[in-house]
Amino acid sequence: MAIEILRSVSELRARLRQEPRYACVPTMGNIHDGHLRLVTLGLQNAPTVVTTIFVNRLQFGQGEDFDKYPRTFEEDCEKLERAGCQLVFHPDEREMYPEPQVFMVDPPPVANKLEGRFRHGHFRGVATVVLKLMNMVQPHVAVFGKKDYQQLHIIRHMVRQLALPVEIVAAETYRADDGLALSSRNRYLSPEERGEAPRLHEALDQVRAAVASGDRNFEALEFAADALLARHGWHVDYVVVRSRRTLMQPEADEKELVALGAARLGVTRLIDNLELLAP
Ligand code: PAF
Repeated sequence: MAIEILRSVSELRARLRQEPRYACVPTMGNIHDGHLRLVTLGLQNAPTVVTTIFVNRLQFGQGEDFDKYPRTFEEDCEKLERAGCQLVFHPDEREMYPEPQVFMVDPPPVANKLEGRFRHGHFRGVATVVLKLMNMVQPHVAVFGKKDYQQLHIIRHMVRQLALPVEIVAAETYRADDGLALSSRNRYLSPEERGEAPRLHEALDQVRAAVASGDRNFEALEFAADALLARHGWHVDYVVVRSRRTLMQPEADEKELVALGAARLGVTRLIDNLELLAP
């Protein structure tokens, strides 16, 4: 059956009234295999999947790539259809923001750390559009990738605190064979940079191995990872070890940790993370 494209909230709601249970996969389009994994996970949790495609201006800062963010709607729909997704919600800017969006979701201070330090207001824009999408789609389940670890953390917190009636399901990061996490921004890498890009994962994996063997000198591990990347031409924004529960500095005996990194290779800024388990 051909994939159905819905562009207005009223059309979407009317169509979804026929579905007893459905999952939502929110995206900004430029669909790659990482997104398709989210669709597969959605289909494991509900018989119907609605993928939303909307490039959300509110989460881009000044000088970021909103205008040049890749918009590949036709190909996206073909890929989604092949992956078994039945519905695509593709509102335009006027449908999503018919008037200037002045009510905003104000996330807690963790939103100003890590990515938030480098992308001011980013998570305010993300939380606002995700809340709005959840209200428009009203899914039983929503699937988000662990690739955007801080985003997932903030969305889970928002869903809990605002009692949204949706179950959040997290998908593992999908990686190329050489370890690079799939991302729409990988397409900005030159062939030479693409060869270098897996080093971010490699640096995080060194942290993971050291922590797994009992090393809790996180500062030294962060410094070593940072130095490894800098030696190979990266401009590092951060490589840090954090508590998985809070995304803040880990408690002295905390075992469930995560290493998060963000660094620029040429003009392309990549982020990645790895969950760590201390003994
Ligand atoms: O992860 C993304 O693609 C976006 O941040 C999201 C969740 C679709 C909100 O615009």
